[in-house]
Amino acid sequence: EFHKAPKHVSFSFDGPFGRYDRQQLQRGFQVFKEVCSACHSLKFVAFRDLEALGYNEAEVKAIAKQWAIKTPDVDPKTGEMSTRDPVPADHFPKPFANNVAAAAANNNAIPPDLSLMTKARHHGSAYVYSLITGYQPQPAELLREFPDAKTPEGLHYNPYFANLNLAMAPPLTAEGQVSYGDGTKPTVDQMAKDVAAFLTWTAEPKLENRRRAGLATIVFLLIATGLAYMAYQNIWADKK
Ligand code: HEM
Repeated sequence: EFHKAPKHVSFSFDGPFGRYDRQQLQRGFQVFKEVCSACHSLKFVAFRDLEALGYNEAEVKAIAKQWAIKTPDVDPKTGEMSTRDPVPADHFPKPFANNVAAAAANNNAIPPDLSLMTKARHHGSAYVYSLITGYQPQPAELLREFPDAKTPEGLHYNPYFANLNLAMAPPLTAEGQVSYGDGTKPTVDQMAKDVAAFLTWTAEPKLENRRRAGLATIVFLLIATGLAYMAYQNIWADKK
């Protein structure tokens, strides 16, 4: 078995009291914006949702301007789809005109939408991190056992990907591929962790509220149980 389970990696949002680290989410968004968004959309995330990461309205508008929204009309002169500027309510669009164009640009594979990716895969946050940092040469052992399993031209070996070869080339290859504004050193490992955190937020923006509600519920139930027990004692006190 050459497929590997995701690496063990810890995040600020692990565990019942874990919280997102806004600085990290902003860095992860920067990685998404500067690297991943060339091929991937976030169809369930609106630009204005970024306010939860600490951006203000003007910043959100400026960010949205960096994308273009395709409209259904086709420019009769070029045959290309027309575009318009996004508004904050628009969602992060698909970078390709359609699936045919997407597949043609990516060795026949369509880059999937990443909004819910960390939910769609087991241990999704660790999975995204592991996938991005997990590219490696094919083990000699694998080739010895299965000579026909040589990674085909244009695909890339990655033991964290379920069928071992994927069409996505390593997207993060060099330290400093993005420059962080908060002084964090942009190693490949750091960028991968940050984008995995960001994609956890896209999949579960209300994670903190959910956990807070869960904790409040448990506290309430404990108190209610205590009261019920005391009431029971009280009601039966003279019937012993
Ligand atoms: C697939 C993440 C950048 C092209 C994927 C998958 C993830 C991912 C999680 C799904 C793997 C699965 O199905 O389990 C990212 C991240 C990026 C990034 C975090 C930025 C750091 C890119 C870029 C391109 C690209 C820049 C294009 C040049 C693809 C393609 C697939 C894919 C074609 C489908 C692969 C296949 O099914 O064989 N990516 N990606 N990705 N990505 Fe990316």
